[in-house]
Amino acid sequence: MCGIVGYVGRRDCSDVLVESLRKLEYRGYDSAGIAVIENGEIVTKKSKGRLDNLQAKLDEEGKPNGHVGIGHTRWATHGEPSDINSHPHSGKRVTIVHNGIIENYKELKEFLMKEGYSFLSETDTEVAAKLFDFYYNGDPIGSIARALKDLRGSYAFGIMFREFPDRIYAVRKESPLVVGVGEGENFIASDVTPMIQYTRNYYLLETNEIAEIKEDSVKIFDVHKNPIEKELQFADWDVNAAEKGGYEHFMLKEVHEQPEVVKATLSPRIKDGMPDFAGDGVDVEKLSSYRKIFIVACGTAMHAGMVGKYVIEKMARVPVIVDIASEFRYRDPLITDEDLLIVVSQSGETADTLAALRLAREAGADTIGIVNVVGSSIAREVDSVIYTHAGPEISVASTKAYMVQVAVIYLFALEVAYRAGKISEEECKKYTADLLGMSDVIEETFALKDECAYTASRLLNAESLLYIGRGLDYALSMEGSLKLKEISYIHSESYAAGELKHGTISLISDGMPVIAVATQSNLAEKTISNIKEVKARGAMVILIAGADIEVPEDAYDELIRLPKTEELFYPMAAAVPMQLIAYYTSVLKGNDVDKPRNLAKSVTVE
Ligand code: G6P
Repeated sequence: MCGIVGYVGRRDCSDVLVESLRKLEYRGYDSAGIAVIENGEIVTKKSKGRLDNLQAKLDEEGKPNGHVGIGHTRWATHGEPSDINSHPHSGKRVTIVHNGIIENYKELKEFLMKEGYSFLSETDTEVAAKLFDFYYNGDPIGSIARALKDLRGSYAFGIMFREFPDRIYAVRKESPLVVGVGEGENFIASDVTPMIQYTRNYYLLETNEIAEIKEDSVKIFDVHKNPIEKELQFADWDVNAAEKGGYEHFMLKEVHEQPEVVKATLSPRIKDGMPDFAGDGVDVEKLSSYRKIFIVACGTAMHAGMVGKYVIEKMARVPVIVDIASEFRYRDPLITDEDLLIVVSQSGETADTLAALRLAREAGADTIGIVNVVGSSIAREVDSVIYTHAGPEISVASTKAYMVQVAVIYLFALEVAYRAGKISEEECKKYTADLLGMSDVIEETFALKDECAYTASRLLNAESLLYIGRGLDYALSMEGSLKLKEISYIHSESYAAGELKHGTISLISDGMPVIAVATQSNLAEKTISNIKEVKARGAMVILIAGADIEVPEDAYDELIRLPKTEELFYPMAAAVPMQLIAYYTSVLKGNDVDKPRNLAKSVTVE
């Protein structure tokens, strides 16, 4: 939920930390802070709100001068966003930054208070800082290891000791953390984005491995102080990928990256025109043998799962249950060792999704992850992982990550259907080629930009609107509706078009916008009847229709025609105007498109 960074080297540490935090602001922006060793003392500067507030403070008060430091950008969990609750937090001899949640912080706080400690903030992190201080005995690694024994919960820590001004320490459990290895300088960060301008080499830390980072060395130890040899990883993300690349917002940039990332994700998994997941370690022989397939995820990733349900059931004839991870994990689900669980997650760190995965593993189910972030917790805990290659997604509202999740799920459905003998090799090859061709179709949909911007201008004053569709169009409507509400702050619901008349239609009043999707020829006529029902009650209908769907003129106020494609894959084409409508509505309303209020990109607490 938060972003942490750390630096040891010859550059101006304050500058490196602030610049690095900027790349991690998507992880939370309730406050930001840095701590730097200046003349042997730890100097801390922090400020509530965006990183710019911290920058202003540094400009005004002067930045700490030094070469060793840690930094933090916060998404509040314990204690409201405030200067005092901002990280870094300190004990007498220790200063830390933390991403995660210390579950037993209350009892630890009571214990430490009895030991004479007093607390400035309401945070669980300050408790951890004071616990490190309590166990400090002149031996940093020993005292970190001792404190970890008492901590329950999740954490990625960057830690500095006043008596060791030449280094920082890092340790993690469940929250992400990487250690960047440069020349004469080394880094820590929640992901590789901040460090790729300095180095592409990094280590991934396993649970409770403790990294000691100095200017010219990175050493990793277990909790018994035994050194650990680790394989150096290489980040092949494009440096520019983390920048806006000329677009006004990350969201718009990421929308335009979709053709490319769809190709990048699908191509390595197509061999001789057929789907091929062998390289991902998927046990393909077993694919047709599952009794049920569960797809579990949160938010947008769950909506990708909804498309998966329709398409896997339709093509492979296997029952698919889609579940919200926070529901699945607490409802004692009927999952067994005869089932397959697919978890879908951009970040690979979403706490509820991770918990759902663990539960399914305990039940003996096979597990596959569809994950964007390499080496993330979910990726490491699933039996096999299918990485989507969306690259870093900075905008909180997910676009390209959704698109590649859907693309992978389609390819997977084809694989299962073929293995189950439900489609022939010839059919499978045709669908696979069409799916790969969606990259070009998505490109064509960008021509709808002006229509989408115009539509957005008609939504501006709406208090509420509906998205409707049937079948795959309904699955897509869910994502369209979420996209709009999360960045425009206009209330919206998605509804199965046929269900409207059972209550929701009473909401329709004069001028209320309804965004309808009709791309599936077997359902279009029925959807159009539903559209007419809402239109008759005064709705202003924006219809997104497949190229060949016949639509009478009295069925819409605005018609957005999609380019022609294989019908099954229309959700991928229709997602783009949905994204653009949401985007332009948010822009026209003057909202912070990439950082909508109250939301965080990566939700690592339940
Ligand atoms: C947050 C994000 C959503 C995302 C969801 C699941 O709520 O704002 O965009 O869909 O988490 O995240 P994941 O990383 O698991 O896909």
